[in-house]
Amino acid sequence: MDSKPPEGNHVLAVLGCGFMGTALLKGIFVSTSNAESRVKRYIACVRTEKSRERLQTLFGATEAVEVLCDDNIRAAKEADVVILGFQPTDVKAILDDSSMACALHGKLVISMLAGVSSAAIYQVLETASRRQSNSLEEKFRVVRVMPSIGAQINKSVSLIAEHDLDDENATFVEWLFGSIGAIQKIQEALMDAAVAASATTHALVVTSIDALVDGSVSRGIPRAVALRIAIECMLSASSMLSKGTELAELKDSMSVPRGITTEAWIHLDQGHVRPAISQTVRQAVDYAEGMN
Ligand SMILES: *[C@@H]1O[C@H](CO)[C@@H](O)[C@H](O)[C@H]1NC(C)=O
Ligand SMILES: *[C@@H]1O[C@H](CO)[C@@H](O)[C@H](O)[C@H]1NC(C)=O
Repeated sequence: MDSKPPEGNHVLAVLGCGFMGTALLKGIFVSTSNAESRVKRYIACVRTEKSRERLQTLFGATEAVEVLCDDNIRAAKEADVVILGFQPTDVKAILDDSSMACALHGKLVISMLAGVSSAAIYQVLETASRRQSNSLEEKFRVVRVMPSIGAQINKSVSLIAEHDLDDENATFVEWLFGSIGAIQKIQEALMDAAVAASATTHALVVTSIDALVDGSVSRGIPRAVALRIAIECMLSASSMLSKGTELAELKDSMSVPRGITTEAWIHLDQGHVRPAISQTVRQAVDYAEGMN
């Protein structure tokens, strides 16, 4: 057990530190102080010089972050936790390499690759490492996680797929993603569907606010006021649900006889808003599941 880094001593690399990887790192820095961090050093790996400069500007002041350009293998070697954040189409190009497989052996690999199963990742890594040697002394440890863009402001809903990691690794994954918001465990088979539901929800909230503001402005409410009302009402309705109010109970409490809210519901139904939303989720899921 001597080789095990003590708690707070992990080195975490993000291979392909793009939009989500950056949001994740930003979120972790905002929400964990050095004292409570289980990670002592971060390595962000990018492909282009331009991205390197972008991250350097963003994290340059933070000594704990090193930005590497086009050096995934070095990053994987130096780290003991490796996050896969590159494009799903680059799986073979990056992982099907015996030095990479060798570097990842026995380490915790967290995949954020949309539409790529953990079985597919195990298979690529095992095939690549067999090319080097026949005996797999250490197994690979892979878990799929999908944070959401709220990660930047500690409001991610990170989906963690069921896995067979040991407790220590599972606790680390929950700590890491718990530090940027809520975590939700899910069967791996439902991962792509849940990611699609989450993306659709973000799209719907933005579209709804946009439409609510336009309607309000057309009836004379100043845009800034309309925007504030829309945002605060979205927050208050969802906060009540998140504190345990039942959906039906909330609806009942808003439906007073001849009430304005009741009138609004009837209009929403006439406009087929509910079936349109459900159908949008179904289509987004089909799209996500057909992606690879
Ligand atoms: C993952 O588990 C292995 C084996 O128990 C351990 O050596 C390693 O430190 C763990 N890594 C993390 C980040 O928990
Ligand atoms: C971030 O969110 C998590 C869970 O939602 C919470 O435990 C943590 O205290 C939050 N951190 C900050 C800095 O707000």
